[in-house]
Amino acid sequence: MQHELNLLQQFAGTFLKDINMGVFVINTDFELVDISDMACRVLGLKKEEVMNQSMDSIFVELPAEHRLVHRNILEGMVVRNHALSWTNNQDRYELLLDSNVLRDEQNKIVGAYIIFKDVTNLRSLEEQVRRSDRLAMIGQIAAGTAHEIRNPLTSIKGFLQMLRKTLQIHGMDRESGFADIMLGEINRINELVSEFLLLSKPKNVTYQSLDISQVIKEMLPIINNEAVLHRVIVRYDAAEKLPQVIADGELLKQVFLNICKNGIEAMVDGGQLVLTERVDVEERIVSIDIHDSGPGIPMFVIDKIFDPFFTTKDEGTGLGLSVCQRIIHDVGGHIRVSSKGFGTTFTVGIPYP
Ligand SMILES: Nc1ncnc2c1ncn2[C@@H]1O[C@H](COP(=O)(O)OP(=O)(O)OP(=O)(O)O)[C@@H](O)[C@H]1O
Ligand SMILES: [Mg+2]
Repeated sequence: MQHELNLLQQFAGTFLKDINMGVFVINTDFELVDISDMACRVLGLKKEEVMNQSMDSIFVELPAEHRLVHRNILEGMVVRNHALSWTNNQDRYELLLDSNVLRDEQNKIVGAYIIFKDVTNLRSLEEQVRRSDRLAMIGQIAAGTAHEIRNPLTSIKGFLQMLRKTLQIHGMDRESGFADIMLGEINRINELVSEFLLLSKPKNVTYQSLDISQVIKEMLPIINNEAVLHRVIVRYDAAEKLPQVIADGELLKQVFLNICKNGIEAMVDGGQLVLTERVDVEERIVSIDIHDSGPGIPMFVIDKIFDPFFTTKDEGTGLGLSVCQRIIHDVGGHIRVSSKGFGTTFTVGIPYP
């Protein structure tokens, strides 16, 4: 009997070390009795610091709704497949959690266990499939309608320009001002349609070997212009020499412009926009970090920002970032975002040959 108990204890110890699952065991005083190595790693805890501590004190810095474990599990609340997000420094985990009470022979509750799996990769895969599905659908609709919208627009614009001229000749300033506004609005529709077309299938894309620094330098005046209007200071840390990448320069400009514009728009009270270039020689990737000192992106928003039509702005279309992502994915690169309370950094990584 003693021998078997030892064996069981040894199994429990090894199990908690080896198993690639988060495991907590707690007693009826809501104190941690044991924890698996994986749980420590994912949650950023040190085993020797948390053992025998009250669960309340371990998660003391978290608001109640974000805590992994609640006291009511000791009252017999059973949890199955509860999905939960967890952020540990830069890393974000999607967890799936089960918990139940432990009872002795007399059916008395003596503690509880919590087990969780890390399903981050699964989740982001799901997310990608969903996103590309929607993009494909939008693409189909866009391709079909964009040209049909543009053609009548072109003739409206042409006639309106003639009309404006006539109004000007007759000294009808107020009316010609209206025509100006109408022309401005038509341009807005045109731009929207162009973005649609980009989403569906970019036309006239010319891939060539180019220097990203050159691309950034060419669009810096436009960014500066936008920045001044928002009392934002732009800093650009160019790398000495970047390896050439294969891409379409005009599309890249559009990507950087979109991201910089978002950053500038986020800094309502002015601030700093910093562009930094880096080379990862091992992975053979040129990266551009675009950092703003704005308010950051809330957790519940960050998952959606690349979705077409997701916007938090009154005037926004929500297409900016989905177009950027499309362009960068087409050259085998990636866009990542990190936002921790203060400021946001978008990183555009493009592979080089
Ligand atoms: N640097 C940033 N700081 C804070 N929020 C951001 C930042 N960049 C993007 N966002 C959020 O992501 C959303 C989506 O951005 P996206 O560029 O796709 O669309 P938009 O800027 O709203 O519209 P559009 O680009 O058409 O003007 C924004 O509405 C905003 O909420
Ligand atoms: Mg935008």
